[in-house]
Amino acid sequence: RSLQKNYFSCRRKVGSKSVATKVQTTTKTDECEAKDERKTFDTLQEERREQAERSVLISCPPKISEKKFLKHLSRHGNINNFFFYESFGIYAVVEFSEKDGIASLQEATSITSVSHEATVPFKTRLLSLKANESNSQPPVQCLQQTPIGVNKLVQKLSREDSIDQQSYSLMEEYQLTEENICLRFLVCSLLKDIAAAYFPECIIRPFGSSVNGFGKLGCDLDMFLDLDAISGRNIKQAGDGFSLEYQMKRTSSERAATQSILAVIGECVDQFAPGCAGVQKILNARCPLVRFAHQPSGFQCDLTANNRVAMKSSELLYLYGGLDGRVRPMVFTLRCWARVHGLTSTIPGAWLTNFSLTVMVIFFLQKRSPAILPTLDQLRHLADPRDKSVIEGNDCTFVRDFRRIPDQKNTETLENLLQEFFEFYGNFAFSRMSINIRKGKEQNKPEVSPLHIQNPFEPALNVSKNVNATQLERLVTLCQESAWLLQQGGARGRSPARDTPWGLAALLLPSVSQAIKTKGKKRRAREPASERIKTLLDSLKGSKAAPGGSAGAA
Ligand code: CTP
Ligand code: MG
Repeated sequence: RSLQKNYFSCRRKVGSKSVATKVQTTTKTDECEAKDERKTFDTLQEERREQAERSVLISCPPKISEKKFLKHLSRHGNINNFFFYESFGIYAVVEFSEKDGIASLQEATSITSVSHEATVPFKTRLLSLKANESNSQPPVQCLQQTPIGVNKLVQKLSREDSIDQQSYSLMEEYQLTEENICLRFLVCSLLKDIAAAYFPECIIRPFGSSVNGFGKLGCDLDMFLDLDAISGRNIKQAGDGFSLEYQMKRTSSERAATQSILAVIGECVDQFAPGCAGVQKILNARCPLVRFAHQPSGFQCDLTANNRVAMKSSELLYLYGGLDGRVRPMVFTLRCWARVHGLTSTIPGAWLTNFSLTVMVIFFLQKRSPAILPTLDQLRHLADPRDKSVIEGNDCTFVRDFRRIPDQKNTETLENLLQEFFEFYGNFAFSRMSINIRKGKEQNKPEVSPLHIQNPFEPALNVSKNVNATQLERLVTLCQESAWLLQQGGARGRSPARDTPWGLAALLLPSVSQAIKTKGKKRRAREPASERIKTLLDSLKGSKAAPGGSAGAA
């Protein structure tokens, strides 16, 4: 549970260094305790955005003296935090305590004098450090920005003592680190400087898994160009009957305006932004976007505009993730499980998306008795006037202050919840019913898509419209098989041979999915999978009371 607290606190500085207090490495225990201290989404985002505005990204030579580097930069202002990481070379993220530090640093930074190469003299906060010192320095300590591989993860989980511990351990390995989140905000802030050439008051905000609490190291960076500070401002009338208005070019629709803004910003990123490569303008998509790789950070970026609802759903997921300590490990575990078995993919297609899967987990947790998560309607009833939000005619209001949401009484273990999740969706009436987190109840399906998950804020839309019948069938089968496998492995516990995969580790083995399939095929010939699971579970439940009643894991 302490890891949960870490995420919602902005105070964690694992691995990164605070110059003011020399090296500061906080432990899990000195974090905020109560949900009273859990920050609202807006507060946290605003803090991180402001922090990013005071930061620079510097490409460094392979061997530099950390001490000299800091001394050099400190001439421009106090340094709050810094860290190094590797991405085709060494980079440093340096956060000054004041914005003046950046201004002073930029003042002292020269434009490259490479004569054989023409350059666009566009000044950004992505800098290169040149050092003419000997290479005798020990390498700086670089923080990992990518997760460990599945094989290593399986080994690690196999050594844990319970399935609950495995799930927390998985989350600990995969979740975004504080530094990685800082880097994500910094990339948004660097891009904002580019977009500000056209729209000086714009903000580029990260959304999706970078901020919703469910992001895995290495996930894409979804960004939203927010122009509301420009267009949404209400100027007080002078009261003399006169008022002035900006003349503006009109477009045929809001969509056309979004497309032309993104076309221009995309072009600017392509032509002038250092480190941005492979820019693609995908302007005819339902949600127009500019996609590119930000090489210094290694992030795959999707820049959208006019995408307020997606921002709201990221905030909702953040809230759900912060309400109960079991939500995030469960989602991380299931996202990982879905990925290793090919239910989700980084390539768009007829697969389930991480977003859809997360909504399915939330729905399942709303259906527990007693419920673990409140319904969206309940969250709307708890809202106060400041929470009110209507986007394009859709009511997106819900309470945002954790303190206003009553605690739930459910004490189930993660092991039990995962087991029940697999059984729930292994037997769900997908052909008739739609998943609806607003009501917390399945509803009759309004259309024929194989999988129907109502978009929480745009009720007419199906979040999983892309999923085809084959992929749904794979999901159902895998849930059934995993329910069975978990029942076996879970009952057995950690094996005396410490490295033998068991519990979640066994569920994540790619070879195991094959093993289950073979096992499953033999049985499938006799009876439908759901029946098979029920019978198996019944027999296992019966035998659980008797000592030595459960079989070994596959
Ligand atoms: N979104 C949505 N409806 C969809 C798909 C996405 O509203 N059908 C919104 C969600 O807010 C989602 C965000 O767009 O969080 C970003 O989408 P995506 O990158 O697909 O999902 P992530 O949650 O960021 O997960 P991943 O780690 O797979 O990128
Ligand atoms: Mg994403």
